[in-house]
Amino acid sequence: MAKRSDWQDVGEAKALARRPLSQVEAGETSIALSCRRGKFHAISGACNHLGGPLGEGTIEGGYVTCPWHFFKFHAATGLGEPGYEDDCVPAYAVKVEAGRVLVDLASATPRHKTRHAPHTLARPVRRRRGPLRVVGISTTSMTPKRPRYSTSDALLDVALEHAASLGATTQSIRLRSLKFRACEGYYSKSELACQWPCSITQADKTDEMAQVYEAFVHGADVILVATPLRWGAAAASTTGWSSASTASRISRSPPAAC
Ligand code: FES
Repeated sequence: MAKRSDWQDVGEAKALARRPLSQVEAGETSIALSCRRGKFHAISGACNHLGGPLGEGTIEGGYVTCPWHFFKFHAATGLGEPGYEDDCVPAYAVKVEAGRVLVDLASATPRHKTRHAPHTLARPVRRRRGPLRVVGISTTSMTPKRPRYSTSDALLDVALEHAASLGATTQSIRLRSLKFRACEGYYSKSELACQWPCSITQADKTDEMAQVYEAFVHGADVILVATPLRWGAAAASTTGWSSASTASRISRSPPAAC
């Protein structure tokens, strides 16, 4: 027989009412507890996407926004944002008794995750037989309407031409000509928040970083990175060294057919 109620104490009402949103534990269940004008609501503290801690996010317009990749769920009903209501997290009954906030775990509404077809980048990496594949990427920036001579671009072209002369297939990508949203450092929030394929690329079909991932993950045996040395590009010298050493390895050994 189903349990009729399972009230769990999640904390002092006065303290919890000071914050619009808190991540609390009800037994072993994480809860995103919100409070507006003294009224509490509780939904699951685990996001449908990758399990992000909803109670550590923000609340606006009645919706809790996950701190990892910003999915939204209604603070009282757990339903996804308008248009995505079907993607919902459990909601729970809440009451305040003797100055304590209680959440009824037995009242949980069902969780439902909307299924998405896997992104094309998520396919298995399979290397077909063929010549060595060299991908060069330039991270040099410049004003598109006022192009200038770039030494790192020129060096990359020389390296790719040399690789081609040795029988490799080559591809050149100028990062500055692609439209994409910069990495927002989700890995700094949690190692679980950084996923493959990148959630930004998955969410935005027009994200042109997909070309870079496609080339690097599925289409390259050798990657050359040409990057200028300048303030704000602290890692440039390291990358430059590895590029230079890769280029010199190509020049010494003939490409293997594999
Ligand atoms: S949006 Fe919540 S884990 Fe990605």
